[in-house]
Amino acid sequence: MQVKGTILSIETSCDDTSVALVRKEKNKIKILAQATASQIPLHRRYGGVVPEVAARAHAETILPVIREVFALAGIPKEKFARPPIAGIAVTCGSGLVTSLWVGVQAGKLLGWLWTTPLFGVNHIVGHIFSACIEQSYPQFPALALVVSGGHTELIWLRDAEHWKKIGATRDDAAGEALDKFAKMLGMPYPGGSEIARWAASGNPRAFAFPRPMLNDKSFDFSFAGLKTAGRTWCLAHKKISAQIKKDVCASYQAAVVEVLVAKTLAAAKKLKPKTILVGGGVSANELLRAELTTAVKKLPRTKLWLPNLKYTSDNAAMIGAAALFAPRRFATTWQKLVAKPDYELE
Ligand code: KG4
Ligand code: ZN
Repeated sequence: MQVKGTILSIETSCDDTSVALVRKEKNKIKILAQATASQIPLHRRYGGVVPEVAARAHAETILPVIREVFALAGIPKEKFARPPIAGIAVTCGSGLVTSLWVGVQAGKLLGWLWTTPLFGVNHIVGHIFSACIEQSYPQFPALALVVSGGHTELIWLRDAEHWKKIGATRDDAAGEALDKFAKMLGMPYPGGSEIARWAASGNPRAFAFPRPMLNDKSFDFSFAGLKTAGRTWCLAHKKISAQIKKDVCASYQAAVVEVLVAKTLAAAKKLKPKTILVGGGVSANELLRAELTTAVKKLPRTKLWLPNLKYTSDNAAMIGAAALFAPRRFATTWQKLVAKPDYELE
């Protein structure tokens, strides 16, 4: 099954209303246009995403954002009612159920109206293929590291349509551990990028934070213990100088990155993938990108693919890309398409 033509893709699984127009050209995924309405300012005052607030904002912005993408792609206004597209791809899970339903409902309605093929895409698979946007087709088998605010997973891909989770966090995601520690330090939500900013001129060896499950034989992760160590540190250091703040951010970030890199490398050494694909908001982290690059250089038969920074956090382009890479796995109909908040990778 091949999709010939442009796909309209929609992502509303958390706090970004994102829409893109995506197509495959000569084995390359091309993004014709993308528009994203971020809700970060809305949720900042609560220190995290409030599902009710997120769903309402998605409902208000989804149609304006779809229209914006059509305009960005140069589709004339008179064609908005029946645009030249070959399919619609929508994130149907996992994610916040009320947020997911807004995108799913929009996709169902437009799919029915335009009698166009529909794809219900897994959000994690979207993050996996974000590394392939505007690049050539990756070589399989591949190993993927998806690392975001809600996920920390290692996935084995026999090919683009057959994947298997081989490891995951047993408690908190890496991004959550960063966000929670940032919150304890009084930084604004989402704190991962703030920690990275402060860490840039800090000493990563100033404070000793645990590296949970570093020497465990499984490919699973655990970040709850690190988060607790962060809380204990904050209780013991009430008033801190700017330099101490930089040092503690660098030390905490180093612990997260060391575990992510070690586990990915252990899986790669055992399974010998041709490609390692990395995705998710935390894959924007400079230290993680640098350490992975250095580590994978030592594997002679494995290439590392990192996503363009534009596609690290939640975005619709990656959902369109996933539908183009795995159309058989995601093909559905407007009657069958539903939000699946716990959509697990099989
Ligand atoms: O993929 P994403 O946008 O949303 C989820 O699906 O969760 O990831 C958001 C996560 C947040 O935890 C955020 O703090 C983290 O990505 N993040 C970063 C950086 N930029 C975003 N973490 C570390 N370093 C960064 N530069
Ligand atoms: Zn995500």
